[in-house]
Amino acid sequence: MAVRLDGQVALVTGAGRGLGRAYAIDLAKHGAKVVVNDFGGSVSGEGADDSPAQQVVNEIKAMGGDAIANGGDVGSYDDCYNMVKQAMDTWGRLDVIVANAGILRDLALHNMSENDWDLVVRVHLKQCYNLLRHAWPVFRQQAYGRVVMATSSSGLVGNFGQANYGAAKAGMLGLMNVAKIEGEKYNIMVNLISPGAMTRMTENLMAGRGEDVEERKQTSAPEHVAPAVTYMASPNCTVSGICIDANGGRYGRSQMVRTVGVSYDPHEFKDADWFESQFDKICDMTGATEPWSMRETRQQHYAAKG
Ligand SMILES: NC(=O)c1ccc[n+]([C@@H]2O[C@H](COP(=O)([O-])OP(=O)(O)OC[C@H]3O[C@@H](n4cnc5c(N)ncnc54)[C@H](O)[C@@H]3O)[C@@H](O)[C@H]2O)c1
Repeated sequence: MAVRLDGQVALVTGAGRGLGRAYAIDLAKHGAKVVVNDFGGSVSGEGADDSPAQQVVNEIKAMGGDAIANGGDVGSYDDCYNMVKQAMDTWGRLDVIVANAGILRDLALHNMSENDWDLVVRVHLKQCYNLLRHAWPVFRQQAYGRVVMATSSSGLVGNFGQANYGAAKAGMLGLMNVAKIEGEKYNIMVNLISPGAMTRMTENLMAGRGEDVEERKQTSAPEHVAPAVTYMASPNCTVSGICIDANGGRYGRSQMVRTVGVSYDPHEFKDADWFESQFDKICDMTGATEPWSMRETRQQHYAAKG
């Protein structure tokens, strides 16, 4: 069945530029009406400007689609309430949340101020709580919802100078793991996108690595990531709790897994020397599994003990 979102409403945050813009336009091309949120600030989160969001709304309308602009701040609980309300007031429904807005305050840990930490965690991680918290009653009531949150390999595997950003992005993994369980019986699918694209956020980085920026505008265009988001935002997507990596020329999946480990009789206590003797086996990834929930890890634990 072709991927379509006809009659559905999507809220895309940070959609005035870069990846969010590409997601909003692709969702509209697939039939969705879109709330285009963007507060229009700098990469580090300063200033505000309504015009990027409005410009994307104009682009969508020029293609024959339907969209409205929202200039709210995703870090604000109340602004996120208003984003959901705007969708409901305008079109009477909300089917999709793409939590994409983001900023950077990169500094090595020993130089990172409390404010740089708090702001980045607020914009990235608290955004997701704010949006899910306000969309959840709507999704539960209509027994349908699709959520895609923008994580990063910075959090999934690590990157120098991004303790705040990496922690916030990896926090989304925890939020997804719980929300996928709470949303399961309401047909709410919650997934992550881990993108790589040439945007204003990464242009200097790519240039600094000596990459051909002109070539990368094509090969790392945000439009390479959008199909994965549109799919995960659509009714066709019936999986929840996964993370898709997408960057020009590759799609893949990142997943937290659990080793088989080493079981022992817990009527006895083991010491650190014994732990060291078992260390390689404890960490051996052979036969590692992807438990769906804590309940499943508990079942595995008791099954292994016999
Ligand atoms: N570009 C990449 O390679 C890459 C890699 C990994 C993750 N990401 C993530 O993808 C998302 C999009 O990044 P991008 O590269 O398109 O960056 P971008 O700077 O081009 O776009 C981000 C947009 O978010 C908006 N925004 C920022 N804070 C906001 C707030 N508080 N409220 C509302 N809007 C806000 C900005 O105004 C901007 O238009 C971010 O979450 C980023 O962390 C990007």
